[in-house]
Amino acid sequence: MDFVGSHILSIDQFDRSDIEKIFAVADRMEPYALRRKKTRVLEGAILGNMFFEPSTRTRLSFGAAFNLLGGQVRETTGFASSALVKGESLFDTARVISGYSDIICMRHPESGSVAEFSQASRVPVINGGDGSNEHPTQALLDLYTIKRELVDRGAGIDGLKIAMIGDLKYGRTVHSLSQLLGLYKDVEIYLVSPKELRMPDYIEERLRKAGHRLVVTESLEEGINNAQIVYSTRIQEERFKSTEEADLYRGRFRINQAIYTANCQPNTVIMHPLPRDSRAEANELDGDLDANPNLAIFRQADNGVLVRMALFALILKVDHLLEKYEREVSWFTRK
Ligand code: NCD
Repeated sequence: MDFVGSHILSIDQFDRSDIEKIFAVADRMEPYALRRKKTRVLEGAILGNMFFEPSTRTRLSFGAAFNLLGGQVRETTGFASSALVKGESLFDTARVISGYSDIICMRHPESGSVAEFSQASRVPVINGGDGSNEHPTQALLDLYTIKRELVDRGAGIDGLKIAMIGDLKYGRTVHSLSQLLGLYKDVEIYLVSPKELRMPDYIEERLRKAGHRLVVTESLEEGINNAQIVYSTRIQEERFKSTEEADLYRGRFRINQAIYTANCQPNTVIMHPLPRDSRAEANELDGDLDANPNLAIFRQADNGVLVRMALFALILKVDHLLEKYEREVSWFTRK
């Protein structure tokens, strides 16, 4: 695809060479993300960050990524503090905000809403999660993490064995990640969920069409014992009719160090898009895993900045200028 000036709405837009391009630019972002150097390629540019659903990582990492490239961020969070609560349409909001920004990131509770918004926007729009539909930038950072973690273990994405666990019905991160894996070869995917929260049929269908082997199971042990990557997710309680309904599924699949040791291969990587639900009744990834070097969840969150910086640089066409605009940093930085 041609990244310049494009919206990023769905994983469907990408082919394998696009992914390689994003990852190659993401690799070059590391010195800036680690504050070893700075680059000001987006000086003067404005990101409109519009988050109509709770978000910590996605919103802050989009903002930090833009700031690290020298740009500024204006944002609105929640419906209550935006004019949408006064009945303004997505169309009008898009027309207005795109006049104030060079690029927009948006999260919204309704599937398809970000695509609708993008049609009225005069600047590129990046989907930060639209309902239970998609979360393309999360899938990109997840795959980037998988690639980096597996390189250290002498493996690649083709031939990957991955277990996806939890709420596969409403989890937009596993929807987008599955679609992304459709671009690779010979992937073995263990889909572990309560049967009521199974991966949507159309996604399973696509994975089978891509030639991947799927194992659909309600057994955590069966799902994790052969996997190189264990990808745990939270029950998406905000998509259920009631808390009581979500309670039926919360805590169904828990992993702690004892379960990991008993069932996983020695170097299995543990991932989670975060937030992990650490309340006692859920506790999908126990705190006793924090000392396990294979717990990649915080490296995964850090990678979000690199991948989002890469997307901004490609879409706004400054990827060729990063090193040219590079400067030393003058403040104290962690080693
Ligand atoms: C995810 C999301 O919002 O879909 N979080 C994130 O962006 N890292 C996962 C979740 O909320 O469970």
